[in-house]
Amino acid sequence: MRRRLGIDIGGSAIKAGIVDLDAGSAVVERLEIPTPQPATPPAIAERIGEIARRLRADGPIGITFPAVIRHGIVGSAANVDESWIGTDGDALFEAATGQPVFLMNDADAAGIAEMRFGAGRDRAGTVIMVTFGTGIGSAIFIDGRLVPNTELGHLEIRGRDAEDRAAAIVKTRLRLGWVRWARLADEYLRTVERLFSPDRFIIGGGISHEADKFLPLLTVRAEVVPAAMGNDAGIVGAAVAAEERLG
Ligand code: BGC
Repeated sequence: MRRRLGIDIGGSAIKAGIVDLDAGSAVVERLEIPTPQPATPPAIAERIGEIARRLRADGPIGITFPAVIRHGIVGSAANVDESWIGTDGDALFEAATGQPVFLMNDADAAGIAEMRFGAGRDRAGTVIMVTFGTGIGSAIFIDGRLVPNTELGHLEIRGRDAEDRAAAIVKTRLRLGWVRWARLADEYLRTVERLFSPDRFIIGGGISHEADKFLPLLTVRAEVVPAAMGNDAGIVGAAVAAEERLG
């Protein structure tokens, strides 16, 4: 039985779960702890070590992080502590857990889970996963193959970073109703559509649980569907990716 640990590092919580890879996407044990503040590399590494001791699983560990990750190295810090830039995340978490680690972008991991088991299953063509949360994450798939680190949340719209205009947190901060926020999300998706002409958008992030409130208000030409894997997407995608790269 291949049981692998997947860990999803977010701004407010670190979610972890043991994924039974032979049973598809089943998360058989899970754990959630608050993200330490300030969320510096040593503070997060300590928690990751603790999680790996509590949720024991052999083999490589898949971990997501909300930043550009190239070959384990963190390359950006839009919504995370600046001290992450340049950190070798694979080495840091391998030292903390004593196991091989595959670190990847959070939206890329969620997208992998959706393409394998959720709203993108068996979909050829261009599929773009967009996660609306504290930031905007993106994952582009061409005939099921990921183009990593696309960072489409940082496209410029009306002279501003797109995620500052249309992330889900903007709805909360400015107390926008669905119609007003959907207009911003729609403007964002139309910009992405102009550049990539995807066949399908998969909308993820917490806000996708209320997809019925805003999907009908969108005017993009592509098909738009809510994510199907819920909160487990990052955990599952990371575990799958780690196994395929290092297992
Ligand atoms: C980061 C991305 C991340 C997204 C969603 C953005 O601010 O730059 O790397 O995927 O937020 O968390």
